[in-house]
Amino acid sequence: MDAGLMADPDASLARSTERSAEIEKAIASDPSQFRILTGDRPTGNLHIGHWFGSLENRVRLAHAGVETFLVIADYQVITDRDGVGPVRDRVYSLLADYVAAGLDPEKVTIFTHSSVPALNQLMLPFLSLVTDAELRRNPTVKAELDDTGERPMSALLLTYPVHQTADILFCKANLVPVGKDQLPHLEQARVVARRFDERYGRSEAEQPVFPQPEALLSRSGTVLGLDGTKMSKSKGNTIELGMTADETAKLLKRAVTDSDRHITYDPTNRPEVSNLVNLAALCLDRSPADVAADLGDTGGGGLKKLVTEAVNERFAEHRALRAEIVADPGLLAAILADGNRRANAIADDTLNEVRRAMNMDYS
Ligand code: TRP
Repeated sequence: MDAGLMADPDASLARSTERSAEIEKAIASDPSQFRILTGDRPTGNLHIGHWFGSLENRVRLAHAGVETFLVIADYQVITDRDGVGPVRDRVYSLLADYVAAGLDPEKVTIFTHSSVPALNQLMLPFLSLVTDAELRRNPTVKAELDDTGERPMSALLLTYPVHQTADILFCKANLVPVGKDQLPHLEQARVVARRFDERYGRSEAEQPVFPQPEALLSRSGTVLGLDGTKMSKSKGNTIELGMTADETAKLLKRAVTDSDRHITYDPTNRPEVSNLVNLAALCLDRSPADVAADLGDTGGGGLKKLVTEAVNERFAEHRALRAEIVADPGLLAAILADGNRRANAIADDTLNEVRRAMNMDYS
């Protein structure tokens, strides 16, 4: 039997951090040995926290030549909420940001869960390889359940890490750029890949059907909301990538600062001010300490002015491109249809291989 899933989260994080540095080197020397799958839930519009936490990194990896798949995880929207919300608009909003950010839809396969039946069918054999005790121990699922308040655990919330395993393995991705909250899911995916090989065997190729995917840790949680707490759409404390320069200025005017006119970068004692300094620094590609030193005694007003300019400058090109993309009727639907067609072809092949490995091939 395997050691318990995430038996020691600290050790797992340390190992993944070390391994991520090795993988970065391997990418630099030969990107063709990797295939990336990653994705987002379409639960709202992407904001600058997503940009610096994940989107920028995905663009970097794709441009470095790593073959990339991107799932818009529409079925994950219904893990912890009752309705789907305006999911269609949100799917297209995500897609617009991906493309405007520089992910070339000819090279990067962008698709929606619900459009790829064979991917979803993989969940059935995968579920047979996982125990309910393992699923209940998953710390990320537990945290997500806690966030829903009094809501009972749905069977989909409990099992979605296995669905996410299908996202990763349908295209045999071996690399998943994620934040550390996703590490338990990656460990689950490796367990499934290994047990599939042990229990159901191999297709005619005599190789394991699935690779054991690894996490590539990206910096995450570096940008807080404008009130100094976690960025979240529901709190109205985010700057969305698609906002106009005016909307951005208005939001930043309301950002929380403090009464000390001397600007410093001190995240422990001055979280709100430091968060704004950090945001300016990220946009300007400078260190937060330097940005704070330059500001000196300008007070909250001077700080906000700098952040507003820095954000609007940094995202001007993205926003202009995004506006063009959104204005072109049919463009996003055509991009998604093409991504879904490519994802379906790969998922069908993988499912056929799985049928052969499981001796369920009756053709
Ligand atoms: N769970 C991820 C999130 O909440 C989104 C996601 C869905 C994903 N499928 C994935 C991430 C597969 C990495 C790999 O952001």
